[in-house]
Amino acid sequence: MATQLKAGVIGAGIMGAGHAREFNANPHTELVGIADLDEDKANEVAACENTTAYYSAEDLIAKAKPDVVYIATPDPYHRAPLTTVLEMGIRHILLQKPFATTVEDAEAMASLIETYKADVYVTYATRARSESAAGKYITESGLIGEPLFASMRNVDNISVPREMWADRPNNWASESSSVPFLYSHRIDRLRWFYQPAEVTSVSAVSRSEILGYTTDFVESFLTWTSGLVTRVHTGWVDFGSQLVYCENLFHGSKGMMTHNETPAFGRPTAGFQAVFDHIEFDDLRQAQAELLERGIGTRLFWEKPNAKGIPGTVPGLEVIPNARETPLTDYIVDAFLEGTDCPSSWRTFQGESSLPTHRDGLEQTRVCCAVEESARTGDVVCLR
Ligand SMILES: NC(=O)c1ccc[n+]([C@@H]2O[C@H](COP(=O)([O-])OP(=O)(O)OC[C@H]3O[C@@H](n4cnc5c(N)ncnc54)[C@H](O)[C@@H]3O)[C@@H](O)[C@H]2O)c1
Repeated sequence: MATQLKAGVIGAGIMGAGHAREFNANPHTELVGIADLDEDKANEVAACENTTAYYSAEDLIAKAKPDVVYIATPDPYHRAPLTTVLEMGIRHILLQKPFATTVEDAEAMASLIETYKADVYVTYATRARSESAAGKYITESGLIGEPLFASMRNVDNISVPREMWADRPNNWASESSSVPFLYSHRIDRLRWFYQPAEVTSVSAVSRSEILGYTTDFVESFLTWTSGLVTRVHTGWVDFGSQLVYCENLFHGSKGMMTHNETPAFGRPTAGFQAVFDHIEFDDLRQAQAELLERGIGTRLFWEKPNAKGIPGTVPGLEVIPNARETPLTDYIVDAFLEGTDCPSSWRTFQGESSLPTHRDGLEQTRVCCAVEESARTGDVVCLR
């Protein structure tokens, strides 16, 4: 395969503009055009990124002839552009999360992808962060024992549904909610950490008092084939001063991991920490060395100062934040070039673990739709 890929972007919105920039920065891709139904948006991003504007996916494919296409259209509108690019011969595709907002769309999309034998990656971008990679390593290496419970809370500021895409409620936010938008990331993280476990049942509740045109929040409990229990909360009505807030707790039989993905109240509290019930110092050192081989720096602590009144020592480690993370897009470009879902750059960073494919997207959609169904009906929804 060529070492230089011609790349196009469909959707010149917030994410599409960023992906155009990523293709311009990647030495293996040449940005050949960006398409948007909104001509002004296409023109604006094309001018910024020094490329050609197109006003439909069809035109972009027919005229710019890209090898790779990034689809960054709104949540409910992923199926049509995906169908267009597949039917026009594109076989290397990046698709923004959520994979789809309905199981009907997701199944039709997965079936088409398999018919055309295309490589489609769904961009759950947080997989590419050092803290996520450390969490996966610690989970899989058994350092915190058997997975028992995980709790995640991921909320957006109310300005996200109200203002980010403008014209509320006459736009796509009213056809989406925090479930496709945020929960899709959370369920992907859980499936990725705990594979091959899958969700067996979903019990959820939501309310729609503030936004009206979509749900304000959803609270949910999931059970898993492995016996794991997880709780996930997502919402779009945070009145705080930050755009997004995300905290995750992963509890095992021999320790736990806390990953605060965003600082709270403007204080620098974001970070990843794992603490262990019993661990030999050599095992902790070994984990540090293996993470360092993956480019993930850590600080060990053997005697951590505890909160007042809590005695004892707590061995553990913290991830040193990496200011220059490689974007998920770059790993996926490597996957196209090497013809594998675990290219060498990804293997070095993550070990033997596939990048997120359409199969992950299909399962993510099934779980998200089950969450919405359970919240709507009040019933427990069984997936298997
Ligand atoms: N990975 C992340 O963390 C993350 C963050 C934000 C958004 N997203 C996802 O990215 C996607 C895009 O979000 P956004 O915030 O950039 O949306 P946006 O509304 O800013 O941009 C979407 C653009 O797509 C265009 N569009 C719609 N249908 C089209 C079509 N058929 N052909 C060409 N253009 C079309 C719209 O005119 C719009 O300009 C969503 O699915 C969203 O959930 C991901």
